[in-house]
Amino acid sequence: MSALRDELDQEIKKRRTFAIISHPDAGKTTLTEKLLLYGGAIHLAGSIKSRKTQRHAVSDWMEIEKQRGISVTSSVLQFDYDGCRINILDTPGHQDFSEDTYRTLMAVDSAVMVIDVAKGVEAQTKKLFKVCKQRGIPIFTFVNKLDHFGKAPLDLMDEIENVLGMQSYPMNWPIGQDGQYMGVYDRRRKKVLLFASDTTHGQQARIADEYEPDDPQVVERIGKDAFEQLQMDIELLNEAGEKFDQKRVDEGDLTPMFFGSAMTNFGVQDFLEEYIRLAPSPRPRQSSDGLIAPDDEQFSGFVFKIQANMNPAHRDRLAFIRICSGKFERNMEVWHERSGKNIKLAQPQQFLAQDRQIIDTAYPGDIIGLFDPGIFGIGDTVCMPEHKFKYADFPVFPPEKFARVQAKDTMKRKQFVKGIMQLTQEGAIQLFQQAGAGFESYVVGTVGTLQFEVLEYRLKNEYNVDIEMNMLPYEVARWMAWEDGREVTPASLKGADRGMFVYDRHENPVLLVSNEWALGWILDNNPDLKLNHVPFDKREV
Ligand code: G4P
Repeated sequence: MSALRDELDQEIKKRRTFAIISHPDAGKTTLTEKLLLYGGAIHLAGSIKSRKTQRHAVSDWMEIEKQRGISVTSSVLQFDYDGCRINILDTPGHQDFSEDTYRTLMAVDSAVMVIDVAKGVEAQTKKLFKVCKQRGIPIFTFVNKLDHFGKAPLDLMDEIENVLGMQSYPMNWPIGQDGQYMGVYDRRRKKVLLFASDTTHGQQARIADEYEPDDPQVVERIGKDAFEQLQMDIELLNEAGEKFDQKRVDEGDLTPMFFGSAMTNFGVQDFLEEYIRLAPSPRPRQSSDGLIAPDDEQFSGFVFKIQANMNPAHRDRLAFIRICSGKFERNMEVWHERSGKNIKLAQPQQFLAQDRQIIDTAYPGDIIGLFDPGIFGIGDTVCMPEHKFKYADFPVFPPEKFARVQAKDTMKRKQFVKGIMQLTQEGAIQLFQQAGAGFESYVVGTVGTLQFEVLEYRLKNEYNVDIEMNMLPYEVARWMAWEDGREVTPASLKGADRGMFVYDRHENPVLLVSNEWALGWILDNNPDLKLNHVPFDKREV
C-alpha cells in the first residue's frame, strides 16, 4: 500500500461528517452548541446562541445574514473528539427556506434528527427525513427536552415508524411516569443515569449521576413505581423490540434513538460518544465513472453551497466544497467539470467557531471554502485533470410560487441583472423569462414565499437595487417537450394562454398554470405533450 493510501485510510477512519436537522425550536442550535462544548471547541455555552434570537421572523433572518461572518462560521463547524475529526454542517431551520438544507444533506455522511419529546415528529422533520431516506444515509435520533413534560417513548417510536417509515432502536430509555422524566437507563452499559441538579444552567460540561441498576439509591431517588415501570419497560424492549443491527443503521433503515436534554447537557456526551462509535466515516459516491472510493488517491469533491457577500467590506463569494476522495493540498490544480477548465485552488478556508483559517491540507469528509471568482455552481464537480468525471447531479425542487420582478429604477438595470443572476447561481431562486418579453423583467420561481423577501432584501442591501415585485397567480410549473422532439413554442401549444409560457435560464420551455385542473386541460388538448416537474435532464427531490 502506498504511503498516501495509508495516510488517507487513517484520516478517513477519523472523519464523521453530519448535519443536524429538526423542526424549528426542537433544540438543534442548543445541541450543536453542546457538542462543541464537549468537543472543547468552545468553553462556555451561549456563544452561538446570540445569532438565533427570534429566528422565525424574516427580519431576524435578514439580520443573521447581515452578520454573515457569524452565519458562515457556524455553517461548518469542525472539532476533534476522542481521536475523531467531527464536521458538523449546520442547516437553517426555517420552515419556508429549506432548499439550502436539502443541499447540505447531499454533503453529509449521516444526519442527526432532533425531536422535541413533547411534540414528536413535526412537518419540517418529515421533509428533511425524506431526503435522508432518498440518499440512504444513516439517521440518528436525539429526543430532546427530556427535562420537560413529554410524550411516552413508545408513542414516539410508533410515530417515527408510522410517519417516517423507519424503525427505531432506543439506545437509552427514559425513567419516569406520565411524561415526567428523571433520567435514563443506558441499555448498552446497563447503567441508570439521573438528572443531577445543575447550578450553571447548562453552561459548563457536566456529567449525570450514574448508578448500577440495583443500587438502592436508584429506588430511593426515583420511587418504587418508576423503578418497577423501568424494569418492565426494559424487559419488554429486550424481548419484543427491534434488535440492534449495524447494517440496518448504515442503510438508513433503523435509527438509533437517544433521549436527553441539550439544555441541561443531560445525555449529550453519551450521545456524542455513541454517535462516533456507530456513525459511518466517508463512503464511496456515485459518479459518471462509477463509484469513487474516498481512499482513491486522486482528489475530488463537489460544490454544495455558494454564499456571496459574506463580508460586506469585500464582495467575496465563497463556494463550499465537500471533499470526496484523495488529499486536498493548497494551490493544487484541479479540473472543473462544468467549465471544462483547469483551476488552481488557492486560499482555501476552513471554519472553526469564529475564526476562518487558511488551510494547507484536507481529507475526504472535510469541507473547504474557496473564494469563487464566479465560476462555480451548485453541484459542480472538481477532480484531477488525469481522471475526469462528474458526480451525480443534485436533485432539484419544483418551484411553487412565482412573481414578476423588475428594477424600480431602470437606470439600475445592470446591477439588477447582476444581482438576480448571482442569486440564481447560488440556487436561492429559479429564473424564467416570459416568451416574447424583454429583458427588463424576469419571472422568479421559488419553493416558499420567504425567498421573495430574501430576494428583495439582498438586492437592496448587496446591489443597491429596489425592486418591484408582482406575485403571479400560478402554483404549478411544468417543463414541456413534444413526444417527437419538435420544439415546443407558444404557437404550437394549444391553450398556452391559459397560463404563462416561459423559458428557464437554459432556454427550456416551461408552462406556469394555476392548478392541476388547468394542467389537465392542456394535456387533454395536446395529447403528444410530455410534462415534467423539473427540467427533463434533472431529478426531482
Ligand atoms: P432550534 O435551533 O432547533 O430552533 O432550537 P433551539 O436550540 O434554539 O431551542 C429552542 C428553544 O428550546 C430554546 O428556548 C432552548 O433554550 C430550548 N431548549 C433547547 N433544548 C432544551 C432542553 O433540553 N430542555 C428545555 N426545557 N428547553 C430546551 P428559547 O426560549 O427559544 O430560547 P432561550 O430563551 O432559552 O434562549
